[in-house]
Amino acid sequence: MKNNLDSLPGRKGLPIVGEFLNISKQGIQFFEHQKEKYGEVYKFRMPTGMVVGFMGETSAFDILKNRRDIVNIGNATKDLIESIYPNSIVLMDGEKHKRDRSILMQAFRRDALNDYIKKLPQIIYPIIDEIRGQKIPKVHPIFKNLLISITGRLFYGIEDAAFLEKINKAITPMSKSLVNVQLNFPGTVYHKALKGRKYLLRTFLELVAQKRANPGQDFFSNLCIAANEDGESFTDQEIVDHLLWFYQASYDTTSWALSYLVYRLAKSPEWQEKTRLEIQDIDLERLDLQTLLGLKTSTMVLYESMRLAPSVPLTIREANEDLKVSEEITIPKGTKIWVSMAMAMKDPNSWRNPEKFDPERFGGERKEHKKCPHAYLPFGAGPHQCIGRVFAEIVIKMTMIALLKEFRVTVPNGYEIPMSEFPLMRPKDGLPIHFEKLEV
Ligand code: HEM
Repeated sequence: MKNNLDSLPGRKGLPIVGEFLNISKQGIQFFEHQKEKYGEVYKFRMPTGMVVGFMGETSAFDILKNRRDIVNIGNATKDLIESIYPNSIVLMDGEKHKRDRSILMQAFRRDALNDYIKKLPQIIYPIIDEIRGQKIPKVHPIFKNLLISITGRLFYGIEDAAFLEKINKAITPMSKSLVNVQLNFPGTVYHKALKGRKYLLRTFLELVAQKRANPGQDFFSNLCIAANEDGESFTDQEIVDHLLWFYQASYDTTSWALSYLVYRLAKSPEWQEKTRLEIQDIDLERLDLQTLLGLKTSTMVLYESMRLAPSVPLTIREANEDLKVSEEITIPKGTKIWVSMAMAMKDPNSWRNPEKFDPERFGGERKEHKKCPHAYLPFGAGPHQCIGRVFAEIVIKMTMIALLKEFRVTVPNGYEIPMSEFPLMRPKDGLPIHFEKLEV
């Protein structure tokens, strides 16, 4: 048994860049081709060194679940995230992670979620007005603005639209920089990201002082006064760093999931009609959590679109110890590991005809997501599983209801969304959608 990567199948790719350009260009297809050639676990090279991909549902789940503390996230994400989002939850492992996560989870208590449901219609309506006023709006930028607004208003108590717009401008390059070469020259994405961070840090630190002096009911205020059993509370810097990552984690992911769902409904008139039938009598202002989560068809179409094009197609970890992959092969401690949720959710072991948009697979007798306990992973699994998953479902369903009650959504025949897939999903054309007003 060898504990180096020599005996693991895979290839090195080009000098210096390795497979970086191929992955940027081909997205998930790159990993699919490699899996066909080398099997579920294989190596490839990135500019930072050799990486091992875990690309099947069982292998992905074992790594994410991390029952025996075999991997860490902190060292794995450090080079990508630390200079823009220091102290963020995705740099933490062990006890520190548990403690900070439990405080962040306060934002998603049941009473808080019901309160958000009451407030959301007033934030969603203006984007419906915006869509009404345009011929063929590009929905992805509209949904990104919506998420900036929702996160700012509901969690941070920020109402000023001009300030929310400034947050949007600052955070966009910060998000892009996570996948860009980190060169700090005027004009580079990384330079803009550092400027964005500086602006947000300064502005949010001023807000911390105000919230500490005069706390409100919002999550931001809670973070300012939260303490653990030993009476330790977050420093000002820690609060701001958590808040910034919260923004990052919520807006890109949810706006993509919403965009892709609208696209799928536009391409599937039959499912669009079924969904409309279910939601047409719903009054957004009288909704509650139980009703919203219990909507059958809406849940099936949402789950299926998140399965086919998950907002976070893959994530990374680092081996804490030598990991045995087979009788012959052990991966050395310190190896960077990429786990693909997107690949796991197309694993033919669980999913019949996995490339097909087929919401029925989540219903009736089939329930393919229940066949194997770890087949469905749009929100990850284990200690770092998404804390905003129910909130995301609420936002997406409520926006979808508002849209489908008023419009029929369509795309031209043969239109296929041009996706940029690595590492976060984005439609290259902004996703133009035709909104046809329904007759009443
Ligand atoms: C459709 C929308 C969303 C998707 C698909 C999504 C997906 C994910 C995934 C896959 C992870 C795990 C990453 C890993 O294991 O490395 C994650 C973590 C996280 N998500 Fe989400 N997310 C969504 C929305 C949100 C929202 C709305 C929020 C907050 C308001 C949020 C906050 C977080 C946070 C704080 C973490 C880190 C948790 C930890 O490290 O303990 N997410 N998300």
